[in-house]
Amino acid sequence: MHIHRLEKIWMVFGVVMLAVFLAVLGVYAFSMGLQTPHSHAYGKVDPEKLAETPPFDQPGVYQVGENEYEAVIIMYAFGFTPNEITVPAGAKVNFVITSSDVVHGFEIVGTTVNLMAIPGEVNVVSYTFDKPGEYLILCNEYCGIGHQAMYTKLVVT
Ligand code: CUA
Repeated sequence: MHIHRLEKIWMVFGVVMLAVFLAVLGVYAFSMGLQTPHSHAYGKVDPEKLAETPPFDQPGVYQVGENEYEAVIIMYAFGFTPNEITVPAGAKVNFVITSSDVVHGFEIVGTTVNLMAIPGEVNVVSYTFDKPGEYLILCNEYCGIGHQAMYTKLVVT
């Protein structure tokens, strides 16, 4: 098969540009210390030792500031600890999420709260509920036979 000289030049040019772009991306990501968006405050945890690892040794909702709360939640197949979460309206709530077994998805329907619960990692997201009411929390990551029954309730008072 004969390839025209100009075509060859363009093929080489394309490959070189691709290499250059990837190199630039890699150097940039490395120099900026970029990471996938997860775990700031708490870092890594041992999913088998959650019972003795703060804050997961005491899951629940705690007041951490004047108008700020922390909801520490462990997801497992197929449920949530604690099972029901109550927070006050108008307060900033920091959801601190991990999993004790497999990957789950933490979604509060009707809000922007949607993050993964990953064993060994801690994910945090903040949200302020403006009005009292009830919200559905569900697992949106397929996690096994009981996945579709994995949901609970969040009450805003
Ligand atoms: Cu947990 Cu799906």
